[in-house]
Amino acid sequence: QEKITTATIKQKKAEGRPITMLTAYDFPMAKIVDEAGIDMILVGDSLGNVVLGYDSTIPVTMDEMVHHVKAVRRGASRAMIVADMPFLSYQASEKEAVRNAGRFLKEAGAQAVKLEGGAEVAGVVRKIVNAGIPVVGHLGLTPQSIHQLGGFKVQGKDVQVAKKMIADAKALEEAGVFSIVLECVPTPLAKLITESIGVATIGIGAGPHCDGQVLVIHDILGLYPRFTPKFVKQYADLHDQMATAVKQYKEEVEARDFPAPEHCFGMSEEVLEKLY
Ligand code: KIV
Ligand code: NA
Repeated sequence: QEKITTATIKQKKAEGRPITMLTAYDFPMAKIVDEAGIDMILVGDSLGNVVLGYDSTIPVTMDEMVHHVKAVRRGASRAMIVADMPFLSYQASEKEAVRNAGRFLKEAGAQAVKLEGGAEVAGVVRKIVNAGIPVVGHLGLTPQSIHQLGGFKVQGKDVQVAKKMIADAKALEEAGVFSIVLECVPTPLAKLITESIGVATIGIGAGPHCDGQVLVIHDILGLYPRFTPKFVKQYADLHDQMATAVKQYKEEVEARDFPAPEHCFGMSEEVLEKLY
């Protein structure tokens, strides 16, 4: 199987073939996603919520991200790995942004990075792209700006915000992104943006007209019972299955039903006799 590159993504948009993306944060999950033939693995800063137990993405650090991108790298051989740039890793200066983006390729083995924002990050995007690092943009609901947005809600229902989002998408394309994630965007606006730009849009809560779709893997597997957004379709209930398995193990140990003979090692009577 051929490795997915930015060229594959461009080609899929041109041919109208849907692009598939899911998050993963460790070796076993990356292996499942890669072997299923998903095009892109996003090591999202949603790591903070679904794996590290923070209540937002704000506290996630570069070192935490690099650690998990490395694990994903070892589990994925075909999918393109996109590493999310965490809060404050690209906002302070362009120089810092390029260094941090570069760490994901140099130390962790990612093939691209993603960062949040529109025209205001176009300069930073340009610098990272000029360093040879493919960049994915992220518009609409951008969780790193949650305190500024004032909550988790659909973005672009009014003309001002919608117009800004269209302009932001064009600014990002101009700055050199090869793809843009659209999060919590009304279906018609996501369609308009998708038709207005030459790079692929990847939707999450942005309707069926995007060039691709992305979701958080813990959400589709039912592994994050704390909160499930409207745009998530849950394909399994692993939290329930895992809780049941753990309870069963506890009961069997307490009842001395586990371990059974097939889980145990014997030794010869002859040796055993000498021990008594
Ligand atoms: O961090 C993340 O998982 C993301 C996706 C929701 C797009 O940014
Ligand atoms: Na993210």
